[in-house]
Amino acid sequence: MKILIVYYSMYGHVLRLAEAAAAGVQSVAGAEVIMRRVPDLPFNEDKVRGSKHAQEVLLQQQDIPLCTLDDLRSADGVLFGTPTRFGNMCAQMKALFDQMVELWGQGAMEGKPAGLFVSTATSHGGQETTGYTMMAPLLHLGMIIVGVPYSTPGMLHTEGRGGTPYAATTVAGGRNELTPTPEDLEIAKALGARLAKIAAKLRS
Ligand SMILES: Cc1cc2nc3c(=O)[nH]c(=O)nc-3n(C[C@H](O)[C@H](O)[C@H](O)COP(=O)(O)O)c2cc1C
Repeated sequence: MKILIVYYSMYGHVLRLAEAAAAGVQSVAGAEVIMRRVPDLPFNEDKVRGSKHAQEVLLQQQDIPLCTLDDLRSADGVLFGTPTRFGNMCAQMKALFDQMVELWGQGAMEGKPAGLFVSTATSHGGQETTGYTMMAPLLHLGMIIVGVPYSTPGMLHTEGRGGTPYAATTVAGGRNELTPTPEDLEIAKALGARLAKIAAKLRS
């Protein structure tokens, strides 16, 4: 059973959540992680070139292949990860979504579970809306949304960190200076495991 984890990350926070989600997927017997990233877009390339932080993160990801439509087609379940952009997914991830029109026409994603992970700069900058708004295209594709139930350890909290029922999340800070908390990573791991278990049930 193949679980695709596909993400975009400029400063590494979404990448850390992707790694935690991968550990969760791998904890499920018979689940194989396919890790993929989405490419940058021309408008952002100068910004990446001009940032030491972004350059370092790009280097950390150089061995992760770019996502293809075949990766999506052959997956039994998919975890999508994005930094928030004005409370919504980033354009790089949206470009991948828009390329999925062919899969939509074929019904190729129908019945597959989809989970989400998200990074925002601030506590209220889109922690909930980013995951929530990503659900609309996923429902058009016929995917089955897998969230994070409140029984997951670390979910019942009032601290300034991640953890929403819509998506596993983290707070990156206004200068991207923070790192995901242990709880953020545990919740991303739990989401990975949950998605893999649900994918296995749907296949049987
Ligand atoms: C164009 C743009 C829009 C952004 N919009 C928001 C926003 O609405 N809310 C917020 O909290 N952070 C916003 N951010 C900050 C990013 O979400 C933050 O850098 C990101 O979560 C870090 O994730 P990464 O390290 O994986 O790249 C924005 C950043 C950019 C460049």
